[in-house]
Amino acid sequence: MSAAAKVRASAKVRASVTARLRAAGCVFAEDEAALLVAAARTPGQLGEMVGRRAAGMPLEHVIGWAEFCGLRITVGPGVFVPRRRSEFLAGQAIAAARRPAHDDGGWVVVDLCCGSAAVGVAVAAGLRALGRVELHAADIDPVAVQCARGNVAAVGGTVYQGDLYGALPPALRGRVSVLVVNAPYVPTAEIPLLPPEARLHEPLAALDGGPDGVAIHRRVAAGAPDWLAPDGRLLIETSERQAPQTAAAMTAVGLMAAVCADEEMDATVVTGVKRLARKFLSPKRYKILRPNQPSPANAHRLAVARAKDEQCAGCGCRGHQATARWQTMDW
Ligand SMILES: C[S@@+](CC[C@H](N)C(=O)[O-])C[C@H]1O[C@@H](n2cnc3c(N)ncnc32)[C@H](O)[C@@H]1O
Repeated sequence: MSAAAKVRASAKVRASVTARLRAAGCVFAEDEAALLVAAARTPGQLGEMVGRRAAGMPLEHVIGWAEFCGLRITVGPGVFVPRRRSEFLAGQAIAAARRPAHDDGGWVVVDLCCGSAAVGVAVAAGLRALGRVELHAADIDPVAVQCARGNVAAVGGTVYQGDLYGALPPALRGRVSVLVVNAPYVPTAEIPLLPPEARLHEPLAALDGGPDGVAIHRRVAAGAPDWLAPDGRLLIETSERQAPQTAAAMTAVGLMAAVCADEEMDATVVTGVKRLARKFLSPKRYKILRPNQPSPANAHRLAVARAKDEQCAGCGCRGHQATARWQTMDW
């Protein structure tokens, strides 16, 4: 029996790892122990990995990957760990793109502030079944860019390094169908309140969203009209509290904005689309949806979604549609 097989086979080993993690305060000690045991190649490596986890390093950094929309995304030390709540952003982006693709028969997807590029890769993987996808991802942090390049290779695409749109090739101007963004949105004063796993192991630039947490959203929104295709969509992950400000950043630059949230996932996304000429829209469709004001049309759609027990467009799980409090308007 190989050393690796011995590690995996031993229920006793798993039990002792679980006990060690539990003592260190890990809430999901049993699940984490199973992942660590499966990832370790030798007993020595397992001991080292358990030590790092018990000392507070995020599990994903220890094992080297995170599960996101059913995909295995590589994530190394110094890179933001993709959060499960961002699966809602990916799902909304796929749903928003599900309309006639552009003349060239494909979608241009841009993942700005991409980190590991989990969101962009999930969106590209989700859309690929429906048509041709051109994926571009960008981040300011070279460590994230290197990590993203590995993940993007699985679906094809390009990763750039630089400050927001400054990283993108000018040829993308006016061509982006889906601009998906999970930028930092923690207000600066709230950084010290974050759990140590984030505060001590993820770069400050991945967390700090400025005085009100919406500074980068404003910059992203300001540049979006130049980069979006005429029927392109901008989707930004935000918090329930900050959603009105994120939406205001979009409307301030002439985009129509709608907020969509999933309570179970604690996820909120604001979607923006270029304002279409009023004459092309019926009064019913020309509407900006505001939080806590579900329109009758949305209430109907939610009822239908519940009845059908619809699957989430992004990760296939059941529940995103059914628990969404607000739905984006069908522009
Ligand atoms: C909250 S993390 C999200 C990463 C990834 N989108 C995800 O959901 O896993 C934010 C990312 O934005 C990047 N970032 C921060 N400021 C940026 C800027 N001005 N231009 C480009 N990327 C930036 C950080 O390096 C970090 O990787």
